[in-house]
Parts: sequence; structure tokens; C-alpha cells
Amino acid sequence: MERTHRNAELNKNNVGEKVVLLGWVSKRRNLGSILFIDLRDRSGIIQVMVKEPDKVPDVRNEYVIQVKGTVSLREVANTKMKTGEIEVIADEINVINTAKLTPLIIADETDALEDTRLKYRYLDLRRPCMQRYFDIRDQIKITVHKYLHEHQFIEIETPMLCASSPEGAKEYLVPSRLHHGSFYALPQSPQMFKQLLMVGGFERYYQIARCFRDEDLRADRQPDFTQIDIETSFLDQNQFLTLMEGLIKEIFKNTVGYDVPLPLRQMTYKEAMERFGSDKPDTRFAIELHDLKEVFTNTAFEAYKTSEAIKGLCVPGVAKETSRKVIDNLTLEAKKFGLGGLAVLKYENNELAGSFNKFLSDDERNDLIKSLDAKEGDIIIIAAGNYNRVTPLLGAIRLQYGKSLGLIKPNTYDLLWVIDFPMFERDVESGEIVATHHPFTRPRDEDLKYLDEDPTKALSYAYDIVINGYEAGGGTLRIYDQDVQRKIFRVLGLSDEEITKKFGYFVEALQYGTPPHAGMAYGLDRLAMILGGTDNIRDVIAFPKNLAGVCPMSGAPTEVTQKQLDDLGIKVEIE
Ligand code: AMO
Repeated sequence: MERTHRNAELNKNNVGEKVVLLGWVSKRRNLGSILFIDLRDRSGIIQVMVKEPDKVPDVRNEYVIQVKGTVSLREVANTKMKTGEIEVIADEINVINTAKLTPLIIADETDALEDTRLKYRYLDLRRPCMQRYFDIRDQIKITVHKYLHEHQFIEIETPMLCASSPEGAKEYLVPSRLHHGSFYALPQSPQMFKQLLMVGGFERYYQIARCFRDEDLRADRQPDFTQIDIETSFLDQNQFLTLMEGLIKEIFKNTVGYDVPLPLRQMTYKEAMERFGSDKPDTRFAIELHDLKEVFTNTAFEAYKTSEAIKGLCVPGVAKETSRKVIDNLTLEAKKFGLGGLAVLKYENNELAGSFNKFLSDDERNDLIKSLDAKEGDIIIIAAGNYNRVTPLLGAIRLQYGKSLGLIKPNTYDLLWVIDFPMFERDVESGEIVATHHPFTRPRDEDLKYLDEDPTKALSYAYDIVINGYEAGGGTLRIYDQDVQRKIFRVLGLSDEEITKKFGYFVEALQYGTPPHAGMAYGLDRLAMILGGTDNIRDVIAFPKNLAGVCPMSGAPTEVTQKQLDDLGIKVEIE
């Protein structure tokens, strides 16, 4: 089809040139004697002026048209548009295709509900802001391919139809037509395959890998998502992290032009939990958690006498706006985290006030103010109970205030490694021991002794990269000793028989000269989301699922025909 330029390629240097453009009608304004059309193509929008509207065919929004005309300087430039200094005076307009009235406004500002946007995703994707997200996503991938190849990595695909293996979340299963009653599982990540590629001698592997996890969805989670998956041999933790920092620096440079200062800070998991109540701390604002155990050594408040943890934080300047309702909401939040409640004290007129105040001695009041460095007009929030409930609760509250008080400067980036994660944690509900990362994570050499006595004391060679309070990636050094690997499986409650059944091939492989190896995976969607400046992961995925795990456009998941079920030997009984 004849076309001389893409819209955004034109500027005032082209004035006087004859051009032929293709695109969609983004907007039209008919002033009677003249018609203005905003023509949109993938590169951007340009204004077209039609001097005799009755001589051209009728065009409506989203019609696909061809414009033949001459580039001309605008009388008044529009500084908001890239092509705002010029316009094209049309000689001829050809309608290539018509369009129905669209169910959503195709512009950056749209008031459409998200499900409408997802149902008509192909229209939503035409919005310039959406196209920008995908440019960023693409640029990340280009950078990944270039940087990793420059550093001797090789890209290798691993299977989508895999053996079921417990890795954390629930798996998506695919029934086998040839083996009725057996199932493939879709990979939660290529974890074991990439380790086997190290046994296979590749030394440096990567893959832009699709991963599948059947977990509750959130603003930063999708059931099918993409990882930049990486594995290397013969590097120690700091060598590996340095290599990974180089990659993230290139990604930031090539997408948002930000120069990430290296090396990145490293913070232990313990410090992150103690100070920020989160293993993915957003350290861009100052509210921090403080340990108050000492303040309450001689407490008269019965519940605090036996509390495993007592922690607090001080929120600046909100005493006046902290109504009964705000306190009720905070209490509700505490209940969500499995705690009975929390204490809120206002520091006004040089004294503490609040229903908890009557349980405090003067010394405790003074110590509280001092420990939390509270100032006139601040509030103090205290939570007590199980450490694993208290810290994340206060972490969540700090984050809410950080956002609602506007303490986070927009367009700032905060990157750090969180390291030294515990090997295992106890499931808060069931009390069972589970792997914090995955069962192939190597315990720190000095902590191997804890595997027999008290495995929850063991820390691991694990690291997460945290960007602006998001876990943007994570990985570990791997176990390359089969005895240690077996021990870890046993701590996780797997019998020898179960180990052989589930991981036999993997444990076998470790016996054939496995190199020390380490890896990680960046969440590609999360990176695109952070760099694109949106807090909704669905914005950076072309055809995502909504929060109910449904694709409003295609209707997935859908029922299937009886014939399909018969082929698979499956009978469906819905409970
Ligand atoms: P992990 O489970 O930490 O590690 O995942 C790595 C990164 O993937 C992203 N991510 C997700 N993004 C969107 N939706 C999801 N549901 C989702 N789940 C995870 C996050 C996360 O940091 N095999 C290991 C990596 C390794 O050890 O090499 C793994 O999958 O950004």
C-alpha cells in the first residue's frame, strides 16, 4: 500500500513535501468550511487539514484511511504533540476500511471499565499509552538478548508440557490423550530444566520463559506471565549479582534513560523485616518499624506480657485526621493479619491520647515518644503478637501511609538486593515447614548444621532484586551435592520414595559432575510495569486475565465438548 512516511517521522524539515500517510482517524473536528482529522499510526498522531470537506469521503473515528497531501507549518504550534509544529494539507483522502462506533474512547484518558477494555483489548491496545508500554516491554527484551549474548549466554527453550513438580503455587494441569489418567503440568518456571542445562555443560543459559501459576491474582500477578530466566555455572554470589546488576543498568538506561548507580545496596532479609516489615521494602520514604519490646518490659497490659513481638511505627502529622473510622479501619487491617487488634495513640498538645493510653505508665509514654521520635501532631501505631503477623501488618500500614501521604516522589527508582533469606519458613496457617524460595536453594555453608537441629534457623544463598517495593526478580545459588539435596527434601517432609518418584531424575543428574551453579529470574511483566510507570500488571500484557482469572475477550476458561472430554478419558462432575 502506498505510504511515504510514518506520522511521527515528519517535522518542519519536511514542510512543502508531498506525503502519503496511512492510519486510523483518532479525532475529527468539522468546522464547516474546514475539517481537521487527527491521524494515528503506530508512530504517533499528526493533524490533517481538509480545506474542502465536502469534496472528501465522510470519515468517522477509527476508520482506516490513506491521506495524500502536503506538509505545512501550523499557524499555532501544539507543543503537546511531537508533530505539533506541522500539519498535512490533504489533497485526497481514501477510506480503506470503516469502523463501528467503538465501545471505549481510544485515547490515553478513557473512562472505560477494565473489563470493557479487556473485552475489546484490540481497541484498548490502540491507545498511545498502551503502545508505549509495549515499546518499553520490547526494549527490555532487546536489551536482554544483547547484553546476555555479549556475556556468553545462550538462549535455549525448555518444555511447556512437564512433569508435575511442587514449587510453591498450584499448577495448571493438561490431561494426556495418549495416557488416560495422566497429566502434564505447565511449568511454574523452568527451574529444574535450567539446572539440568548446567549439568549439560552450557555454563550460561537464558530464556524469555512463559510461566504458569494457579494462584490468587493481585495487581502485580498473572496466571501466565513471563520471566527473564537465567542460570550460570562457576560464579559465586557476588560475581553473579554483579553480572545481573549490569543487565538491570542497561535495561533502565535503554527504557527510561535512568542511570542506576552500582553496586546496588544489599540488605539482609532480617533487616528488611525488622525495619520495613517486608521482604520487598520500599525504602523511598522514611517511616520505619521500631522494636518496642524493651519499652514494655514492665507492662501492666496483660496481652503484651507474653507477646512474641511488640513493634510500632510513627506516622508524621496525621493526628488531626485520625478519626474513629480511621482507627477502626486499621483494626480491621490487623484482624486480616490474624491479630486481635492494634493500638493507636495521638501525640497532641505535648501528650499522648487514645484508648490505649490508660495502660501506659509515664515512663512508657516517654520511652515510646523517644523510641519512635514522635513529634507534635504524629500518631503512634503499636502491634503485638506473633512476629510473622506483626511485622507484615505494620509493613502494610507503613506502605499505605507512604502512598496516601504522597511521601514517595514520582519517577524515582529505588533498587536493592534483599539477601540471606531463611531456607525454610513455617506456613502461618498449617505450621508446616515449606521452602522459602524452592527446594534447590543452597543453605549457607555455616548453616548446614541447623538442618538436623532446627532447619528454620538456616539461612540460604538467596537474593531478590527489589525495585520500588516490588519483587522484580529472585534467585539462589543451587545445591550441587546430592546428599544436601536429599536432606532438604527430607526436611520438607518427603520420603525417599516420594523423592525418587518426584525428583528421581534430578537427584540422579546431580551425580554426574554437576558444576556449582546459580541463577535467577526477573519478572518481565513486573519490570515493564515499573518502567512503564503503571501499578497494574495487566497494562503491560497484551491479552491478560482479569482478577477472576478470566479473559473477558475470549471467555477463557471455557467448557469443552463431550467429544474432547471423551478423547481424554475424562468425566466431569462439578461439585
Ligand atoms: P520466583 O518464583 O521468585 O523465582 O519468580 C521470579 C520472578 O517472577 C515474577 N513473578 C510473577 N510475575 C507475574 N505474575 C506472577 N504470578 C509471578 N510470579 C512470579 C516476580 C518474581 O520475582 N525459578 C525461580 C527463579 C530462580 O531461582 O532462578 C523463580 O521462579 O518478579
